[in-house]
Amino acid sequence: MRRKLIAGNWKMNGSQAANDALVQAVLAGLPAGACDVAVCPPALYVPQVHGLLQAQNAVALGAQDVSAHETGAYTGDVSAAMLKEFGVRYAIVGHSERRQYQHEGDELVAIKAQRLLAAGITPIVCVGESLAEREAGQTEAVVKRQLAAVTHLNGKCVSEIVVAYEPVWAIGTGKTATPEQAQAVHAALRAQLAVAVADAGKVRILYGGSMNAGNAAELLAQPDIDGGLIGGAALKAPDFLSIIGAAT
Ligand code: G3P
Repeated sequence: MRRKLIAGNWKMNGSQAANDALVQAVLAGLPAGACDVAVCPPALYVPQVHGLLQAQNAVALGAQDVSAHETGAYTGDVSAAMLKEFGVRYAIVGHSERRQYQHEGDELVAIKAQRLLAAGITPIVCVGESLAEREAGQTEAVVKRQLAAVTHLNGKCVSEIVVAYEPVWAIGTGKTATPEQAQAVHAALRAQLAVAVADAGKVRILYGGSMNAGNAAELLAQPDIDGGLIGGAALKAPDFLSIIGAAT
């Protein structure tokens, strides 16, 4: 039985004070025996969540030659090793917003995952289709292509990753995938992982895209939905705690 993981992606929101209060409220309200919880402060390190901390991005530098560097003259970039020093345990890679705004391709996402695994950090690898791709019947082809780049590069280490299925058309829109839609994609990803590694059953596949207090329980009841990657609802402690409760 895979232990559920609820991860909050705060994106570029909040402030030190606001996020500190949010963290305290979440930590204070965690139900006994809670599932695994990770929170992702934007640009601050909140010691209280040490061990719960996740990052929104890890940089595998040299995108132009798609090689990864760990140190050097790369202003503004952060390496996996630096994140590890801060006690980071999870790091999101391949989020659709970074694929869109930072033009991060499948190969760079795979290298970032490789760097994180080498540093002992669990990558949360995001995959997801656009509305146009779904309407064109390309959903599985898109997410399988995105995941394949990671499995091809990382071999048996793939059993250490977390995957997040985030339909782009559901992110921040309130248009959540139905449990059946999400489960169908999660099952396809699980089958693809099973070809890549023998112990694919241990890989957690999270759903992200307008998961909230009202729909979390039904989504999390699906056999291949092992948790959630939460944006907006993670910025409101009561909602985030309600989702955590549904996973516990
Ligand atoms: O990474 C999670 C995020 O993209 C989902 O956002 O606001 O739809 O929960 P939201």
